[in-house]
Amino acid sequence: MIVVEGQQFHLTNSRISYIFTIMKNGQLGHLYYGKALRTGRDYSHLEDYESVRPNTTHVFQGDPGFTLETVKQEFPVYGKGDFREPALLMEAEDQEVIGDFLYAGHEIQEGTPRSEYLPCTSVKEEAEAETLIVTMQDKRRNVKLRLFYTIFEELDVLTRKVQIVNEGESLVDVQRMMSLSMDLPDDDYEMVHLSGAWARERHIVTRPLAPGIQGISSRRGSSSHQHNPFMALKRPHTTEHHGEVIGVNFVYSGNFLTQAEVDHYGGVRVSMGIHPERFSWRLNPGESLEAPEAVLTYSDQGMNGLSQSMHQLIHKHIIPERWRKRKRPVLINNWEATYFDFDEDRLISFAKEAKNVGVDLFVLDDGWFGRRNDDKTSLGDWFANEYKLPNGMGGLATCIKAEGLEFGLWFEPEMVSPDSELMKKHPEWVVGKEVGHRTLGRNQYVLDFANPEVVDYLFERMASIIDETDLHYIKWDMNRNITEPYSQYLHRQGEFFHRYMLGVYDLYNRLTSKYPDVLFESCAGGGGRFDLGMMHYAPQAWASDNTDAVERLKIQYGTSLAYPLSSIGSHVSAIPNHQTMRETPLSFRAGVAYFGTFGYELDPGSLTEEEKAELTEQIATYKRIQPLIRQGSFYRLASPFDSDRTAWMIYDGKVGEGVIGWYKALASPNPPGTQHIRLAGLETGSLYEVNGEEYYGDELMQVGLNTGVEFNGANHEHMERSGDEQYRLYFIKRVARERGSL
Ligand code: DGJ
Repeated sequence: MIVVEGQQFHLTNSRISYIFTIMKNGQLGHLYYGKALRTGRDYSHLEDYESVRPNTTHVFQGDPGFTLETVKQEFPVYGKGDFREPALLMEAEDQEVIGDFLYAGHEIQEGTPRSEYLPCTSVKEEAEAETLIVTMQDKRRNVKLRLFYTIFEELDVLTRKVQIVNEGESLVDVQRMMSLSMDLPDDDYEMVHLSGAWARERHIVTRPLAPGIQGISSRRGSSSHQHNPFMALKRPHTTEHHGEVIGVNFVYSGNFLTQAEVDHYGGVRVSMGIHPERFSWRLNPGESLEAPEAVLTYSDQGMNGLSQSMHQLIHKHIIPERWRKRKRPVLINNWEATYFDFDEDRLISFAKEAKNVGVDLFVLDDGWFGRRNDDKTSLGDWFANEYKLPNGMGGLATCIKAEGLEFGLWFEPEMVSPDSELMKKHPEWVVGKEVGHRTLGRNQYVLDFANPEVVDYLFERMASIIDETDLHYIKWDMNRNITEPYSQYLHRQGEFFHRYMLGVYDLYNRLTSKYPDVLFESCAGGGGRFDLGMMHYAPQAWASDNTDAVERLKIQYGTSLAYPLSSIGSHVSAIPNHQTMRETPLSFRAGVAYFGTFGYELDPGSLTEEEKAELTEQIATYKRIQPLIRQGSFYRLASPFDSDRTAWMIYDGKVGEGVIGWYKALASPNPPGTQHIRLAGLETGSLYEVNGEEYYGDELMQVGLNTGVEFNGANHEHMERSGDEQYRLYFIKRVARERGSL
């Protein structure tokens, strides 16, 4: 519901409220964001103009209380007396800063705003969301800002973005354009974010806010392994299930900036947008520019409440609608099993073995094209490698399908090898101005996706392979970051990074529209582009190149803060693990991989008969769990960042079923503490069966589920439970509702 009363705008859905006002100078002032406040009330007392601060600049002569240095703003513009981080910096042709944006009108629309060329949230029914568009105008230059605010009816989520429209007669240059800026009245928060590196993505980092700017960003041309765009501000005492937290995320996959600036009066400005470094955009008269959408969530149910809102948003409003209900295939990928060393015969026998254990989809990874036998050649030459695959891609696909499997392929469309036919033919398609002044990464260069011809070529090549193979699945990889950002096609290089992303989205859009049944999985050297922009096209993402199950506990646990299990590509791989050399039991590896989109990265032909039988059982178990992975609510119960024990649970309250995963990474003899894990999300008075035993919901949530005695050196009966890398799976089922309710 969006209530406009006088100068005040109040967006609410009875659980959250976002309130702002038109200030006395015509700019927008922020009043409140958090748990719902009643409508029909004037909240102008929250404007807080009266605390006079010495030594500030004032908007009006004789009114020292009204200074842009301290008021909470909605979309602060550079150069007008607010010295905090601006949301907008824009210059006219004569280089004067354009900054007099005053309220000029508003409208309210049902649904979410569409975007022609950017990924964005969407609704099935218009009534699921409502959007307020406030227009701000600089009359002198005749430039308008359209500020979009969308509130979802059933979710504790708002989205924001801006569109800049040049209605004047001369050009303007946009140098900074945040999608979201929000001023919070106090700084009693801790910043939580997902940090890491290749093979160590999305580890949870928490730190108290301090005066000054703290933030995360990427200038790599991708959202990055190092910092995921997600950030949360939680109250210091907020836990997994209790307390307040605000989260932001970005529907974008390129350079970004997410910050919290604590000012010297204890206020916090949260900003999120395209990274302003090497960003500038020219708007000729009549042109407009749209910022990517930013997502804002509020929870008073702790971090888990925040995660669940994010998960539902992604599931219902970000991933392509057709993938919301469809089963995802259990896949096997040949990468770690063969690397580049395969031919048609080897792949067919691999597929046969995979089919025998019950796999649905065979994915042929890197190495099937050009002359690619290692990572030094052929990216860009998307034609079958005729030495390895003499019957072409069509021939191989027919054989794989004859085995009863679906067929999927790896592509790295954005890249080119120096040693490739494409590079010889189109040196002007490469990012970077001159040969000899370009940095290599994994022996490859980046293709200039800002150039529409490049996108056309890739579309033609990929479509032709999809047609030839009648493909079911594509893994879209991106294995290096962008350096020497220079497009040989563009005239204004400040536009390069964003136009590159628009080219990537254009290709995704064209392929997913033409081939709606092909399942896309995004990947960037593992989890280097695990973001909401990608998820708009590819409902699942390869979470990390690190397939070690112990490592995956942290990666998947961290990822779940912002992303649902149905987006987390998680596979069982061979031992010793290729990233850590660790040897973990097959059951433990599956136990971790179940909580994601399940699959394998190993050669089934190399397994013993018992191991193959175990795979068949694992696939059956996963298929039993799979509807929960798609539709259930996820609860983190014990963190791998706190101890060697991890526990989590997926539970669907509608059907009253769930699964709990409990993991012990390292054994400790005769450990202290209780062996109970407290479950969450159940009904206190309902009766549940857990692995054959009955308990009430209150017992399971207040006392916990007894995970049994761990290793006690004197107790040899329990030796089978000892050792590192143990796991248990508990199936929970509601058997009676509200009986014996408290
Ligand atoms: C990086 C990916 O993350 C891997 O899974 C694999 O596809 C390789 N690239 C192939 O080059």
